[in-house]
Order: sequence, then C-alpha cells, then structure tokens
Amino acid sequence: MTDGLEFARTQHPSPATDEARREILEAPGFGRYFTDHMVSIMYTEGRGWHDAEVLPYGPIELDPAGMVLHYGQAIFEGLKAYRQPGGGISSFRLTANAERLRQSARRLAMPELPDDLFVRSIDALLDVDESWVPAAGGEDSLYLRPFLFSTEAGLGVRPAKEYRYLLIASPAGAYFPRGVKPVSVWLSREYVRAAPGGTGAAKFAGNYAASLLAQAQASDEGCDQVVWLDAIERKYVEEMGGMNLFFVFGSGPDARLVTPSLSGSLLPGITRDSLLALAADAGFAVEERKISTDEWREKSASGEITEVFACGTAAVITPVGRVKSAEGEFTIADGEPGKITMALRDTLTGIQRGTFADTHGWMTKL
Ligand code: PLP
Ligand code: COI
Repeated sequence: MTDGLEFARTQHPSPATDEARREILEAPGFGRYFTDHMVSIMYTEGRGWHDAEVLPYGPIELDPAGMVLHYGQAIFEGLKAYRQPGGGISSFRLTANAERLRQSARRLAMPELPDDLFVRSIDALLDVDESWVPAAGGEDSLYLRPFLFSTEAGLGVRPAKEYRYLLIASPAGAYFPRGVKPVSVWLSREYVRAAPGGTGAAKFAGNYAASLLAQAQASDEGCDQVVWLDAIERKYVEEMGGMNLFFVFGSGPDARLVTPSLSGSLLPGITRDSLLALAADAGFAVEERKISTDEWREKSASGEITEVFACGTAAVITPVGRVKSAEGEFTIADGEPGKITMALRDTLTGIQRGTFADTHGWMTKL
C-alpha cells in the first residue's frame, strides 16, 4: 500500500541564520534545539499510510479528544546520523530501529510503519536539513526522533483508527552534562518501571512517564540515574531510565562481560546488542543472564566486578562509578572510567564516525 507513496515537500528558508546554527552546533547539549523541518505521515484504518510530507518544523494541531491525550498510544525511537570524515552522512543500524518501532507498535495495538517508509522518512528529512548534522571528528551527531501516536478523536477505550507518524531531529552532544565522567545510580526498590507481561520491552511513552518519580527520588539522593529492578523480587537488575547496563568481571584478555538477559520487561537496546557483538569480536566472553543487586555489591567489594557501564543511543557508553540504595552505597573499583569500557566506547564511536572498519555492515549512507 505504501509503494509509490511520495513525500510532498513544503520547504522553508531556515529561520536560523548560518551564524546562529553554527553557534548551536558548537554546543548543542541534548534535545534543546530542533532542525528546520519535520516529516509527517498519516495513517487511517482501511486506507493505510498516506499524506507523507516534509514540513517546516512547528506546532501541530490535535483534537482535544485525540485519543493519545487520554489513553496514551504513543511510541518512539531514537537513532543518530553521523557526519563521516569525507563529509557524507551515515546512520547506525537504522533498520533495527525501524523493526523496534514496529514491535512497539504491535504491543500498543498500533499500526506498523513499514521499514521502507521509516528509512525514506529519514532520507527525506536529511535531504533538507543536512546542514544541521554536526561536523566530523567530535562526539556530536544529529539525534533523530521518530514517533507515532493516535490522533482519532473519541473517548471510547479501544485502539484508535487514525495515527500520525512524525520525525524530528535535534543536534546532540553529550547526554550527560559531565560527558563521559562516571555517573552515580540509585537502585529503585520502591517504584518499578515495568512488570512481566507489561510494556517494558516497547519504546512506549508511558514507560518514561512511569519512571519520572523514581528519577526525582534518585536526584534527591544525589544520584544521576535510576537503576530499575525486576518487578517481582526487586532483586535483579534490569536497566536504567534510557540505557542498558553491562558489568565487567575481571580484567585484561580474560575479562567477561555480563548484561541482564532480555526479561521481557526491559528495552532490547540496539547499543546493547552491538556491544555484545563488539565485545565478542575483541575476544571477551559475553553472558546474558540475571544479575542481582547482591551480586553487584558483593563482587564489587571483592574486586571481581571491575567496571560497570550504561549504554544507549543518547548516552553512548557512560561509566557507572557509584551505586546507592536504601541499604547504603558502594563504588565500582576506584570510581573512574574503566579500560574495557573506554576501549569499547572507542570502537563503537569509531565505527559510527567512520574511522573504524564497519565489519558488521551496520552503517547506512543517508
Ligand atoms: N533502555 C531504555 C529504557 C531506553 O530508552 C533506551 C534508549 O533508547 C535504551 C535502553 C538503549 O537502547 P538503544 O541502545 O537502542 O538506544
Ligand atoms: C535514546 O537513547 O535514544 C533514548 O531514547 C533515551 C532517552 C533520551 C529517552
């Protein structure tokens, strides 16, 4: 049905002067500035995807009875476009994001955007907003935020019959204001993010709303982020607010990497999946299994756990230095970024920025 769906284009001159854009790109922060355009595609049950357009970035109209405002069918993705040394632009594993958007859609009883439309929406936006992709050679990139939500007006509780897909983009520097400095984390035993059978494995807006109170609690405790535990026993580590977690056991060539197995209530991160492959390439043993907070504390104290890091598109790889919970706190090794953490970070960012060989075929020219 989507074959031949063309993107109509309403282009406008950038409201930002070249100078203003250059200034923004020098220190973009995260999620603060948006490019000049956005992509919009409508969906109507019975008709399918239609009215694909590139529009000036700006406010949208939504009926007050728009079902997303009441019953919350809203999902999103996050991926990045990277300036390459030759001046071109590439993205990392974008079909994995397309597929995850479809999986999230399925869980929330929403229509699945075909992968080709997802990819073409990104091409269409970069065609007009290419100048917003930060320069090669640094840490910055253009963060792409595709999202889908219900728009049908009505108050009956059922899957909507009308939806809108939008793609916006935002130049991005470090997600954490302190860059790759280790973060501190708060183990949330009072609140849970997601339960078995729930929506935790989907990139569903409600999961993030559900996380905010615990995140505020983490801040009150002097920590940067929440670590979510399993909903039943409140004992096993799941993930962080927007990142997956890795634990390094031992050091040197015999080091092992452990990451919580996909329990069904944590997000299957694309960075997580990529690092499992890159760590194996580097000769490390990798394990996906349950890891309890007791094991984390005890083996950090004994020195068996040598490094812990968080990973995700926005956060890239960020070391975890200090862990706090109602029972007390401890540090991981000396609380500084670990060697394996930083080596994996160099490899991953090198592939994304076109300075390391892309042996897995993860990069796509845009
Ligand atoms: N976990 C959550 C809850 C997230 O929001 C994200 C971010 O996308 C991740 C993990 C990491 O996923 P990815 O590596 O695909 O960005
Ligand atoms: C991402 O890493 O893309 C995320 O979605 C995490 C966060 C910004 C919600």
